[in-house]
Amino acid sequence: MKTLFEEVTLKNLKLRNRIVMAPMCMYSADLDGNANEWHYSHYETRSIGGAGLVIIEATAVESRGRISENDLGIWNDSHMDGLKTIVRKIKKHGAKAGIQLAHAGRKCVVKDESVIAASALHFDEADANYKLPEAMDLETIDEVVKAFGVGAERALKAGFDLIEIHGAHGYLINTFLSPLTNKRTDDYGYHNQYGTLFLRRIVEAVRNAWPSDKPLQIRVSASDYDAKGNTPEKIATALKTLSDLDIDAIDVSSGGVIPAGVRSYDGYQLKMAETVKGITGYKVIAGGRIKSVEMAEEVIKNERADFIFLGRQLLIDPYFPIKAAATLGVEIDYTPVQYKRWK
Ligand SMILES: Cc1cc2nc3c(=O)[nH]c(=O)nc-3n(C[C@H](O)[C@H](O)[C@H](O)COP(=O)(O)O)c2cc1C
Repeated sequence: MKTLFEEVTLKNLKLRNRIVMAPMCMYSADLDGNANEWHYSHYETRSIGGAGLVIIEATAVESRGRISENDLGIWNDSHMDGLKTIVRKIKKHGAKAGIQLAHAGRKCVVKDESVIAASALHFDEADANYKLPEAMDLETIDEVVKAFGVGAERALKAGFDLIEIHGAHGYLINTFLSPLTNKRTDDYGYHNQYGTLFLRRIVEAVRNAWPSDKPLQIRVSASDYDAKGNTPEKIATALKTLSDLDIDAIDVSSGGVIPAGVRSYDGYQLKMAETVKGITGYKVIAGGRIKSVEMAEEVIKNERADFIFLGRQLLIDPYFPIKAAATLGVEIDYTPVQYKRWK
């Protein structure tokens, strides 16, 4: 039987348990996208706390790919020192280090940046922070695909163990994957393979730079919370068209494509992840308001998902994994020696 606290491998990557820290923007980088002491302490602490995999926040592959002016960046060699330090801090305490490569698309609110998307559709006209995006022409598509590839090259040099491509939450890739935001009539349109051509090209560019023995995963929004938008079944069907590519797992999230509110409750995305797993056969990472180890363990034991992610719970309680192991009565060997007397 599978359990939360067993060692597990994803490609060549050995993880000490099935707990993944979800990527979470800290909006704390400097104006050039560089990491600083905040990131070093924040990520190091989650590794000390026992997570198996720490995926660092949405990291922009282009400066116009930032959500805010304080996002982390990977579009320039000058970002390397900060990213290498984050990796070193995470790995020092036994967690593995993942990075989420991202492009904000029409949700970029950085003042002087141009805004791009699959189609020229506003995210939210009522909110002056959002600009009307330009529909990407073929040259711009090539540029962004290349930027993801170069980002992957830098991620490798920085020492990351895993790449997650951010295809969720209404950011650039998601504007291609949702029928609500992709109104293109060319090959990149939703009518052709559910709008997956852009993501296909990005996966290929990333895989060109990212060795085949290292895991690569994609985060998707499995529901747009709109009758005409994506559902878990629809996004799973779209992902199936990519089954010839070397993708190791799908990180199942939801929402963000349109301003519709996410209907959340404890475990609200678990059923979505289960559906994506069932239809695609991919390994999945499931989460969303998981606050108890009992809920996390149930998901793994019943094989509803292969990993669970924790976001907000780890913000407030970085030691959740160590405490959770004790609750389940599982012996782990990575409680820091300095903290062994906590019980
Ligand atoms: C402060 C904060 C920042 C976030 N930033 C990102 C991000 O950079 N990339 C992403 O895919 N999701 C991001 N999310 C969503 C989380 O990864 C996660 O999916 C969501 O919070 C639901 O999980 P939870 O209930 O365990 O927090 C963010 C969430 C929070 C609270």
